Amino acid sequence: MTLRNELPVPADAGDARAAETALPTKKVFIKTYGCQMNVYDSQRMGDALAGEGFAPTERIEDADLVLLNTCHIREKAAEKIYSELGRIRLLKAEAAREGRNVNVAVAGCVAQAEGAEIIKRASVVDLVIGPQTYHRLPQALARVRGGERVVDTDYAVEDKFDHLPKAGAQEIRRRGVAAFLTVQEGCDKFCTFCVVPYTRGAEVSRSVEAILDEARGLAQAGVREVTLLGQNVNAWAGEYEGRAVGLGGLLRLLAEIPGIARLRYTTSHPRDMDDALIEAHRDLDILMPYLHLPVQSGSDRILKAMNRRHKAEDYLRLVDRIRAARPGIAMSGDFIVGFPGETDEDFEATMRIVRDVGYASAFSFKYSPRPGTPAADIDAQVPDAVATERLDRLQGLIRAQSTAFMESLVGTRMDVLVEKTGRYDHQMVGRSPYLHPVVLAASAGAVGDVVSVSIARNGPNSLIAVGGEPEAAELSSLRKIA
Ligand code: SAH
Ligand code: SF4
Ligand code: F3S
Repeated sequence: MTLRNELPVPADAGDARAAETALPTKKVFIKTYGCQMNVYDSQRMGDALAGEGFAPTERIEDADLVLLNTCHIREKAAEKIYSELGRIRLLKAEAAREGRNVNVAVAGCVAQAEGAEIIKRASVVDLVIGPQTYHRLPQALARVRGGERVVDTDYAVEDKFDHLPKAGAQEIRRRGVAAFLTVQEGCDKFCTFCVVPYTRGAEVSRSVEAILDEARGLAQAGVREVTLLGQNVNAWAGEYEGRAVGLGGLLRLLAEIPGIARLRYTTSHPRDMDDALIEAHRDLDILMPYLHLPVQSGSDRILKAMNRRHKAEDYLRLVDRIRAARPGIAMSGDFIVGFPGETDEDFEATMRIVRDVGYASAFSFKYSPRPGTPAADIDAQVPDAVATERLDRLQGLIRAQSTAFMESLVGTRMDVLVEKTGRYDHQMVGRSPYLHPVVLAASAGAVGDVVSVSIARNGPNSLIAVGGEPEAAELSSLRKIA
């Protein structure tokens, strides 16, 4: 998935330097690839750059700085960056003809994994900066302006988040009423297929105080829904008033913050779903009844080869316990097909676990061998045609389950967080407890309200509430200019 990030306006950066010295203002274009943690990081880099006088632009041609925040999880994701850099090279040459200098920076997991190789392969790149050193972005850019090519992929000992400027209230509001908040980074699990432990380093938890402080700032600026992020968010561990707390305890503390109406967290590892976290699902209405809990495969043989360190049956029992604590909770997951050595029988076990759980949504991927990971060296790679056929079958089953889940919501009432105006004047768009976009009547509530609506029908990717249907006249003439 490619997500273009929105960037801050410098006047709101909480840094007077921007307003004082930034005439004419420099412009930065940030493009974000990969997971939500990259989305969050791009926002924080945007905040840091705002302090340096950079205003955001949605138009790459206008940018003085192009920043790609990259993902290394699968080969396709990484290769995309090089084709993008090819296009940027032409753009830079074009700007140079007009006498304008454009700097190009590569951040994120490709930066961490490939480092100086990126500059060798794409000479257009001026700066390579890894995910642990974003707080050094301003200094690195100063060196680039001094004519240096900079590669900074250290694992910094200090917490980058403690050193990155916070977004101002106006900027937080501009980003919307639902916000991400990274609480944990890195991974110690070393699944044999995965690059994350190498690109993001060891598991590190942010402190309770830092998290509560940031969440209060979000709430004061009007944020109603906070999604806690971490590569293994449920491995988060902290201390509060002298006692050890896990993610369940953290969620209880966050639930007390006035203004916050909804909490979510992602992504979790089955081995880190402890009792306290399951009890939080039982006790906290504010914690949305939706859980992304990847299992990757339904075959014990493959789970073992993946180093997931649990069996299919353990996962099923865990889901039972979660559902007992929070009846009606919607489950989501990730699956990999075509892991080295996966037989038809192994794949059928994956189909079986999907049928047994019944997912509201799930993501599935063809195994992609990643350099430096143990699975890439296994001889028994599955032929591409076989993996493609398996992926099609699995995705068909997942699609059928998610459609059935959406259909089961038709005729029910649910709380919806109103997020933005809709396509037509009388519509707003909100979010269901299960993350579906919901189209509802504008009269139902304003942005930031949580309103109770009845679901009239399901569209292909969204739910339509009573009153949210486009009116015939609007369909023909009232299309809004977005
Ligand atoms: N920490 C999360 C996953 C992060 S990566 C977890 O453990 O669940 C997101 C997803 O990408 C993974 O769940 C996995 O399904 C997929 N993925 C990771 N490495 C992959 C690879 N080499 N090939 C294909 N899919 C992969
Ligand atoms: Fe990757 Fe496994 Fe860590 Fe998830 S738990 S980030 S899949 S190594
Ligand atoms: Fe990709 Fe890095 Fe996230 S590899 S999925 S951007 S942690």
